[in-house]
Amino acid sequence: MKAFIHAKGKLAIKEMEAPVASKGEVVVSLKVAGLNRRDIAIPKRRGDEGEVLILGSDGAGVIESVGAGVTNVQAGDAVIINPALNWERNSDAPPQGFDILGMPDHGTLAEKIVIAADQVEKKPEHLSWEEAGVLALSALTGYRALFTKGNIKESDTVFIPGAGSGVATYLISFAKSIGARVIVTSRSEIKRKQAKELGADIVLDTNSDWPEELKEETIDLVIDSVGRATFNRSLEVLKRGGTIIVFGATTDDIVDLNLREFFYGQYKLLGSTMGSRQELYAMLELIENHNIRPVVDKIFDLEQAQKAMDYLEQGNQFGKVAIQISE
Ligand SMILES: NC(=O)c1ccc[n+]([C@@H]2O[C@H](COP(=O)([O-])OP(=O)(O)OC[C@H]3O[C@@H](n4cnc5c(N)ncnc54)[C@H](OP(=O)(O)O)[C@@H]3O)[C@@H](O)[C@H]2O)c1
Repeated sequence: MKAFIHAKGKLAIKEMEAPVASKGEVVVSLKVAGLNRRDIAIPKRRGDEGEVLILGSDGAGVIESVGAGVTNVQAGDAVIINPALNWERNSDAPPQGFDILGMPDHGTLAEKIVIAADQVEKKPEHLSWEEAGVLALSALTGYRALFTKGNIKESDTVFIPGAGSGVATYLISFAKSIGARVIVTSRSEIKRKQAKELGADIVLDTNSDWPEELKEETIDLVIDSVGRATFNRSLEVLKRGGTIIVFGATTDDIVDLNLREFFYGQYKLLGSTMGSRQELYAMLELIENHNIRPVVDKIFDLEQAQKAMDYLEQGNQFGKVAIQISE
């Protein structure tokens, strides 16, 4: 089978042996995989080291075969992959043993994947293959940040800088589905228009004067995964006593924090990361009940995976980048 791999500092399409399902496992013949920022970060982190690793965390496809003892799915079922490994029940933080598919285990940028049967879920029927293939990682992350950690309510206003991010597009749809007020920023005029179409109530230029633009607003919750470029400015528009949630830092991990202003403001800063299987189920129920569909920005073929990664790195996307693996 064909796979997009990283090995000894190089990215390449490689012919590999097709996997076989052992006890409790399934082989999924993938139709579409989804790219995440992590797929760009991993090769950088591994540098010139490391044996062959198939990248990719998100994917959707058809069960090709099942190993002994598998009862939740059967050959022919349409499924999505849950990339959050070994995290079943809700908890304040992921349990020991939690991992994300695509490192150290082989990921979804391949014609086939072998995975534990309980890491696949029935594909939501209202989604196309492309939509299903880009769903899990970002939508689960957004769900936990917004609902479990952020405890968002209908009467709340949430502020999200960097509307073009894959996770941000889910945050907009999820928050709007419960009737919350959504304010986003983007550096790009086109993306601001797209965010408005997706349902954002107010869209601002990331480079505008936020406190001035939002002086009439009360922001209960901020979800900032842009990092250094926006973190302190996000705090400036959060109401006193409000909550700011981070699960990423696209621009830089390190920020300067004025502790005096922080404690006088009585802000709450919470970290989040992906989510449990229970949260995945809750997210799937939400998207089914509200007919929420992922925003697929662009689709590349598996052979063009490197090009797709470059495209994602340039940051021109609004939403998710998909990799078509088979028809
Ligand atoms: N912890 C987890 O479980 C988890 C899961 C998923 C993602 N993440 C992290 O969350 C972050 C978001 O990921 P993603 O893939 O959805 O999006 P992404 O591709 O990292 O994009 C984030 C957005 O940040 C904005 N941005 C980038 N550079 C900026 C700059 N210099 N100034 C202002 N804004 C800037 C852009 O928005 P505009 O183009 O609209 O301006 C961009 O679309 C990443 O850091 C990712 O690693 C973490």
